[in-house]
Amino acid sequence: TGVQTCALPISLVKNKGEQLWVEKRAGKLGNLEKELSNVPNSHSGIGHTRWATHGGPTDSNAHPHLDNDGKLAVIHNGIIENYVELKAELEKRGHKFKSETDTESVAHLLSDARKKHNGDLAAAMREVCQQLRGSFTLLAIHSDDPERIVGARRNSPLVVGVGSNENFLASDVSAFISHTKRALELGQDEIADITPNSIVVTDLAGNVLPQKEYEISWDASAAERGGYEHFMLKEIFEQPKAVADTLIGRLEGLPKDISKQINLKKIEKVVIIACGTAYHSGLVGKYAIEKWGGISVDVELASEFRYREPSVNSKTLVIPVSQSGETMDTLMAMRYAKERGAKIFSVCNTNGSTIPRESDAVLYTHAGPEIAVASTKAFTSQLIAMYLIGLHIGRERGELKKSEAKAIELELSELPAKIEQILETVEPLRELTRKFKDATSMLFLGRHVGFPTALEGALKLKELAYMHAEGFAGGELKHGPIALIDQGTQ
Ligand code: F6R
Repeated sequence: TGVQTCALPISLVKNKGEQLWVEKRAGKLGNLEKELSNVPNSHSGIGHTRWATHGGPTDSNAHPHLDNDGKLAVIHNGIIENYVELKAELEKRGHKFKSETDTESVAHLLSDARKKHNGDLAAAMREVCQQLRGSFTLLAIHSDDPERIVGARRNSPLVVGVGSNENFLASDVSAFISHTKRALELGQDEIADITPNSIVVTDLAGNVLPQKEYEISWDASAAERGGYEHFMLKEIFEQPKAVADTLIGRLEGLPKDISKQINLKKIEKVVIIACGTAYHSGLVGKYAIEKWGGISVDVELASEFRYREPSVNSKTLVIPVSQSGETMDTLMAMRYAKERGAKIFSVCNTNGSTIPRESDAVLYTHAGPEIAVASTKAFTSQLIAMYLIGLHIGRERGELKKSEAKAIELELSELPAKIEQILETVEPLRELTRKFKDATSMLFLGRHVGFPTALEGALKLKELAYMHAEGFAGGELKHGPIALIDQGTQ
């Protein structure tokens, strides 16, 4: 795990009764791209990129995984927690495994279940999902039914794109936004059975569910590179707009329905829960909310939260922060707090995703689609959301004088222009990075909000340059990390 591995495996069903056409390659997407010049005419296809969570980063562990007939293919996001037991059972029944993944068990289970249900892949999916523990988005196809794709989701995102004579399934709307702006939400444990001209959504018992269609507000160009060399660069330069859009109409106060849902005067403690970059924005949020809102704030890694016994109750305000709104650790931590009566006020960038749907109130960041893996503009707009919440709590609880609130509003409103100025002067920074390109390790130091920023800087460097990096509070350097500094340190 933690190694970037299996790139896009793709399987396309050509004709009824024919075998699946499958290509998969470990490593970068480019490795697969080279193989894709001879894709046959096809009816439907599924594709997937994934980190190697089970087994090494090899071609055989890359998705899709096939059944022993080579006719059914499955791709999977998430983790099947009980795959060891399932695999042992399947092996007893004569199934042969070709990979070390958790996912392959699903292909074998679906194959058996489909036979039992006379070729009905959706019925097979409903049965198999009931045997699975963990989180998953699953897509399956079978070569005898080449126009059909069946998808399922539990604690992992899946949306349907509604086209004309074509339909789509994806974990994010940006995958099909250039084809259609109509989308259907899928809830927990729902199964989508699609062909080019039909969409049927059911629960695990097979009851047909009403379809909740919505219009995607992002335009196609927002999801494209816009002339930049790569998406991350584009997204870095979109920060002034993302910040300005997140501020629009909110400086003078947050929407009234937030105060209607949550009585901030009764709140005794705030707990921010998030992962990765979102956690770092939460750490900045602590400074703002404590200073302006006069209330104590804990910031917790969502992945740790529910594994201890955190003290939350009806007087706790829990703020989950998530770009995607689908991060399982954050969602589970939020559900844990909700069950104990906490009020949930989420910060999210993705309309209609699970975290805001399950919250009492939500403040959307308006960063637009984030395509690059590393978070950039989503982070800066989360910081803005945190400042807005601090300001809001300060006003509602009477902690901020009018003049103080006005001064904060003014400073926040100047931020987009200031970020723009910084982005105009990045060239010297590029030069500096060339100087450090061969370093084996980097330390990021910062004080006050500079400390979470140092943590975020180190995370970015690890993710993007694959270099070792650590972030520290400036004052901590002398308490241990100083041992890492030697003569070669620049
Ligand atoms: C870092 C990054 C991750 C995410 C984390 C939480 O660049 O992208 O650390 O921040 O996985 O994701 P969300 O915000 O979608 O809950």
